Amino acid sequence: MSAIASKSGTLLRNCSRAQLAPLRCMAIQSRSLADATASSSFDSPFKGVGSSQNTTKIPSFAKYKHRGGEASGKVFQYFLVGTMGAVSALGAKNTVQDFLVNMSASADVLAQAKVEIDLSAIPEGKNIIVKWRGKPVFIRHRTEDEIKEAEDTKWEALRDPEPDSDRVKQPEWLIMLGVCTHLGCVPIGEAGDFGGWFCPCHGSHYDISGRIRKGPAPLNLEVPEYDFPEEGKLVIG
Ligand code: FES
Repeated sequence: MSAIASKSGTLLRNCSRAQLAPLRCMAIQSRSLADATASSSFDSPFKGVGSSQNTTKIPSFAKYKHRGGEASGKVFQYFLVGTMGAVSALGAKNTVQDFLVNMSASADVLAQAKVEIDLSAIPEGKNIIVKWRGKPVFIRHRTEDEIKEAEDTKWEALRDPEPDSDRVKQPEWLIMLGVCTHLGCVPIGEAGDFGGWFCPCHGSHYDISGRIRKGPAPLNLEVPEYDFPEEGKLVIG
């Protein structure tokens, strides 16, 4: 009986110790917090205002506010946006201008873009070949008979149907690129079955208007851009 009484006394002592321990901890924690709050000078935005549930402290931005009113603030903003827009537009314009200047042809290339020929040096019934943009150009001073033959040809039935009048600006002057439309050889003048040009590479025959009449070439000899700025002068390009 005495053994039972001593064990129950030990049990009661242990239980009371276990219940008192958390209470003691809470007391120590609250004392530490109170000490820290009393001794710190840091103004925490999370320490709460008014009631203990409200932990949000909104800082004041009064010293950053514009004092001149809303209108003067807007004027400044518009000025800033306008200035930035003008500067950006100027930069974009200069960039595009530099790009175009760099991409455009240089003076020596432009000089090669046009070729001027004195036609008085070419007798009737003769060909000359000039170089233009790296390609040969045939210039033929045609005779009356050649003009008649070119105009009388039934062009509608040709492989690349084209009337002679569409290929010349002045009937006596025939100007064409000297490049065969088959694979790019240079045809020979005053040769072939039609009295015009003959390409020896694969046997294409062109007539006195430069139209394909026989052989593998699919198209007529090409007529480049040209003009007669004055009597006896030809400008190609
Ligand atoms: S390149 Fe002229 S016929 Fe073939």
